[in-house]
Formats: sequence, structure tokens, C-alpha cells
Amino acid sequence: MSQNQGFFRHETLEKNVGWLIVATIIVVSIAGLVQIVPLFFQHSTTQPDQGITPYSPLRLMGRDIYIREGCVGCHSQQVRTLQAETERYGHFSTAGESVYDHPFLWGSKRTGPDLARVGGRYSDDWQRIHLRSPRDVVPESVMPSYPWLEKTPLATDSIQARMKALQRLGVPYTDAEIAGAPEELAGKTEEDAMVAYLQGLGLNRRNVRLDTAPAPATAEPAVEAAAPAKE
Ligand code: HEC
Repeated sequence: MSQNQGFFRHETLEKNVGWLIVATIIVVSIAGLVQIVPLFFQHSTTQPDQGITPYSPLRLMGRDIYIREGCVGCHSQQVRTLQAETERYGHFSTAGESVYDHPFLWGSKRTGPDLARVGGRYSDDWQRIHLRSPRDVVPESVMPSYPWLEKTPLATDSIQARMKALQRLGVPYTDAEIAGAPEELAGKTEEDAMVAYLQGLGLNRRNVRLDTAPAPATAEPAVEAAAPAKE
């Protein structure tokens, strides 16, 4: 039995909910900071992976329409490090892939498949038909139709503000790219932007494996085993 009779007894915490709450908050805060703070400084979470470039104006508009339409409510964009996932979708997601994503669209709900690696899986035509009427290509689909995307001209007046906002957050758009952006969107529809966005998802990872990327020099066998065997 403990001889300690003072304030610093375990009993003080166990029998006083106020102190228990205070002590819990302190412990959880320290543990949280230990996990979170290093991520702000680690190269692998702050620098883009090999092949990752900022979104083109067209893909950026597509991404914003993806957010507007709530696609993230049914589709995740993060392949986990589980064999079942890497075999189905491809290489697992890394932090360095998402450095230009503000906000992240990792999602947590998978009513539909993960889309992190969907780029190039289907033709542009398939994507268009699927967006207009999913059941024309996947009869059992429960995905809603988005027929208005095809008919809505893409707004060109907001792209510069969008790019400037991202520039302020550290995305390396040049002023020349921002100046030329509206021209790149002229005559396009929202569907064009959405298809461009979808068709680029995960392409950088198609043939790149972590153990061949130059930055992380540690080629652990576990990483190789998790990489997709075929592509
Ligand atoms: C209510 C849930 C739901 C919403 C919202 C939704 N989807 Fe889907 N999506 C699905 C389901 C279920 C499937 C699988 C069946 C199919 O292919 O249609 C799917 C399939 C897909 C596929 C094919 C993926 C693959 O690997 O086969 C793409 C691409 C896609 N959705 C894009 C989108 C986009 C873009 C949006 C927003 C405009 C969106 N989805 C909104 C449920 C949803």
C-alpha cells in the first residue's frame, strides 16, 4: 500500500472529476502535439512527391465542382495500406500527393469506389456518359446523374481568385499562369472540367513506386510488397 497521503495521490484524480478532466486534457494534448507537430516539418508530408504538380486551371475548376456537387460524400480519395486496397486501386496514398490540395478530399465514405487512382481507368467518353446517366454504363449503379454539368458553361471569372488564394497557401502558381488561366477555360463546360479532373487523379502514381522515388532512400521490402504487382 502506498504511504503517500498528500495531494499528489492517485486517489486525488480518481475521486475528483474536475482534476481528472484537467489531467486528461493535459495528457491528451501532449500526446497529440507529439504526433501532430513533426508533420509540419517532415519532408515527406510538406514536399510534393515525384511527379506531383499544381492543378491546371481546368482541373482546378473540376475539383471545385467536385466539391460543390458533394462527390466526396460518396467517394474517398485515399488508398489505405491494405493489400485488398492496393490490389484493387493501386499504390497506397501518400501525404506528398496531397500537398496542393486545399482542402483535402480524402473523404471517409465509400458508397462508390475510391477515386484516388481513377485517372485513365476509363475513356473520357465513358466518364461523360457516366456523369450524365450512370446507369447507362453501370446498370446497378446508385450514383446520381449530373446532366447539368454538360450544359453549364464553365465560369471563367473566378479562376484567378481561386488560383491566387491557393498561391497564398503555398501552391507555386506563377503570375503568368494566373493571368492566362481564363483563356484556358474559354468555351469549356463544367463537364469538361470534371472529366479533366477525374482523368488526372493518381496518374502520377501509375508507374512510380515509393522505392524508386528519389527522395526517401529507405526502400523497405514491405513497401515493395504493397505496391501493385501489375499495371
Ligand atoms: C450517392 C453516392 C454517390 C455520389 C454522390 C457520387 N457517386 Fe460516383 N459512384 C457511386 C457508386 C455507387 C459508384 C459505383 C457504380 C458506378 O460506377 O456508377 C460510383 C462510381 C463512380 C465512378 C467510377 C469509379 C470506378 O472506379 O469505377 C466515378 C469516376 C465517379 N463515381 C465519379 C463521381 C463524381 C465525379 C461525383 C460527383 C459529381 C460522384 N461520383 C458522386 C456513388 C456516388
